[in-house]
Amino acid sequence: MNWNPASWRTRPVAQIPVYPDPEALTRAETKLKSYPPLVFAGEARNLKRSLAEVAEGRAFLMQGGDCAESFAEFHPGNIRDTFRVILQMAVVLTFAGAMPVVKVGRIAGQFAKPRSGDTEVVNGVELPSYRGDIINASPFDAASRAPDPDRMIQSYAQAASTLNLLRAFAQGGYADLHNVHRWNLGFIAGSPSGEKYRALAGRISETLEFMEACGITPESTPQLRTTDFYTSHEALLLGYEQAMTRIDSTTGDWYDTSAHLLWIGDRTRQLDGAHIEFARGINNPLAVKCGPSLSNDDLIRICDVLNPANEAGRLTLIARFGADKVEEHLPRLIRTIKREGRKVVWSCDPMHGNTIKSSSGYKTRPFDRVLKEVENFFVVHRAEGTHAGGVHLELTGQNVTECTGGASAITDADLSSRYHTHCDPRLNANQALELAFVVAEGIRAERFKNPRIIAAQ
Ligand code: TRP
Ligand code: MN
Repeated sequence: MNWNPASWRTRPVAQIPVYPDPEALTRAETKLKSYPPLVFAGEARNLKRSLAEVAEGRAFLMQGGDCAESFAEFHPGNIRDTFRVILQMAVVLTFAGAMPVVKVGRIAGQFAKPRSGDTEVVNGVELPSYRGDIINASPFDAASRAPDPDRMIQSYAQAASTLNLLRAFAQGGYADLHNVHRWNLGFIAGSPSGEKYRALAGRISETLEFMEACGITPESTPQLRTTDFYTSHEALLLGYEQAMTRIDSTTGDWYDTSAHLLWIGDRTRQLDGAHIEFARGINNPLAVKCGPSLSNDDLIRICDVLNPANEAGRLTLIARFGADKVEEHLPRLIRTIKREGRKVVWSCDPMHGNTIKSSSGYKTRPFDRVLKEVENFFVVHRAEGTHAGGVHLELTGQNVTECTGGASAITDADLSSRYHTHCDPRLNANQALELAFVVAEGIRAERFKNPRIIAAQ
């Protein structure tokens, strides 16, 4: 198919800066090529198999994490708390759907950010835009904003130790179902809207107690003690991704070993562009962000290029329209995919289409808009008879105040108290869990409308 890890270099490339020192760039890329892979190809295949189950309507995808990771916030507490909130949500969704939840972090490599302009002007001074810690630094001075290839090396190191800790958490006992459920009970006890969720949580408690009485305990049953946790990030900085792309010795196929799943953003999905060219040749599961400007024809062309064999689990479509545009755009894309018989996972990103500037000047996302987009996503899928397969969220386990609303009613005026993101506003742990309970309702509505599942009750 005339592809190699460098073939993207012959295509028009968006969102990648020109490095002032090309020799330093080559040195850094050469070094990265010699480093060990971060993930094993067999793991990416396992994820693809699990995503195929989502595409077939038998599992659900829970993907989430920071908008962007940073060097400054690299801390074991941050990693732990993000992992924890994703698992807390996953327990609720697993129970609600009575189906496996595929857990994927936006973590251990989510460093590069697309920007609307190449440069930024402040007080008459023009400097390159900040593009994420893997490329440059955010302070507004010429030295910080100059793209520095050694930042790729530091990103690799941070991704490696983040992944190491995640693997330890997933396999070492921290992810024990009983633990995670206990955290959820704590959330419910401390949340003003906890009452609404008490019934569902109570049923999970009873189920765990019942299993325990039957002898199904974390000691007897390792599946209760461990989980599979995968990593993902936007495949934006292609020089880094190319350097991490290796031939898997088991199959002879190319894999990008920087993460299990890579996605392409709404700004870099041009059919003749470098990002699509790079992605088509790697065998990892892929995702593509779908915004309002995506036409039906282009969607099918993207499927043709990225998933020519129509393999279930290969391609996830992440819809991100804005709460009030879901009904306008999602049905046409779903119908197009259905008509053409394409196998995809449908996921919902309720964050990126709902960003506003608050009256206090902060970039924020009203929580009720986020909930609304998720609800609309489920309603449309129910109407179309398709599986609402997953969610893609920007969240943190920290108690930040970046999105307004939620049970603890964060107001515009509160934003300044704990606004920590240097990128997009994230759901805090409580908002994320509240959202999980809303998603649970959508999942249950789908589950009990589906006659095949009801027949099996
Ligand atoms: N191993 C199962 C799973 O990952 C059950 C499980 C164990 C689990 N720990 C969990 C589920 C934490 C959700 C969250 O699905
Ligand atoms: Mn973002």
